[in-house]
Amino acid sequence: MVLTKGRILTGHRPTGPRHIGHLVGTLEQWGKMQDDYECYFLIADLHVLTTDFEHPGRIQSNITDVMVDWLASGLDPAKATFVRQSALMEHAQLSLLFGMLTTVARLERVPTYKEQIQQLKLNPSLGLLTYPVLQSADILIYKANLVPVGEDQLPHIELTREIARRFNTQYGETFPEPEGLLTKTARLPGTDNRTMHNSYGNTIRLGDTSEETTKKVMSMYTDPTRLRATDPGTVEGNPVFEYHEVFNPNTDEVEDFKTRYRQGKVGDVEVKRRLAEALNDYLAPLRARRVELQKDAGYVVKVLDEGTERARPLVQATLREAMEKMGLR
Ligand code: TRP
Repeated sequence: MVLTKGRILTGHRPTGPRHIGHLVGTLEQWGKMQDDYECYFLIADLHVLTTDFEHPGRIQSNITDVMVDWLASGLDPAKATFVRQSALMEHAQLSLLFGMLTTVARLERVPTYKEQIQQLKLNPSLGLLTYPVLQSADILIYKANLVPVGEDQLPHIELTREIARRFNTQYGETFPEPEGLLTKTARLPGTDNRTMHNSYGNTIRLGDTSEETTKKVMSMYTDPTRLRATDPGTVEGNPVFEYHEVFNPNTDEVEDFKTRYRQGKVGDVEVKRRLAEALNDYLAPLRARRVELQKDAGYVVKVLDEGTERARPLVQATLREAMEKMGLR
């Protein structure tokens, strides 16, 4: 295998099972990149504690759930390296060093930080403030060139670039300035048409059964102004049709539904029933792999542990280099 295009580091916080928004937004894209790039996929368990340190009992099972969903989606331990953040404390050590190069004022301007404080009505911890510094360390400790992420994460990549520049200017060329790579698929809305989010209860999980999926689809938000099947309906911004676009391979059928929906010649029930079938067909192979993986939690954890050990010499070397340059060796 010739990996010419460079190195990728990306990851998720293990906050619970993955949903179809993760699948079409990110996991399918990551899967495709495994052949061309040297990929590191990070389970960012330390980052979980920045907003939730009160449920230690959940973290390990969430890690297994995320790994099962990742592997079932096509991320492949034969091609990529899976890393458990907290098992390589070099990430945190490099973050401490980067903290010396980052002002508090800069971190207070990070949009995700401001949003989190407002939304969660938090009295922010030091850990939350330095969240993006730890993320910068996650990326730079691998000297990654490319970081595929969602749009909300771009300010963190910008900070990562600033830290790399500051370090390089001060101590000599050490870190590449990584590029953020945005996912191409527009963000898939939740079943209630808000942002799809585990805490909103509006997700369709990769691990849902087909019955659960059908039930969720049948109660999806559609055009709220349409009371009868004979009323003309709106297709634009209607999540049922956004899902059809993504999951229904029969484009003629989708176009026909749209036309008839606009004319008031098809009911929501029929459109949704077909969506449920298309979605379940789309997810069927993934779900079959998921069932197999779930029977073998030992294997899933082994993949993560072996990847972590493979990454260890690399992160040790980068940390040592940074310490030397900063005068600590
Ligand atoms: N902050 C990312 C998220 O919430 C997770 C993450 C942690 C990450 N470290 C990273 C993503 C490094 C990309 C690179 O989704």
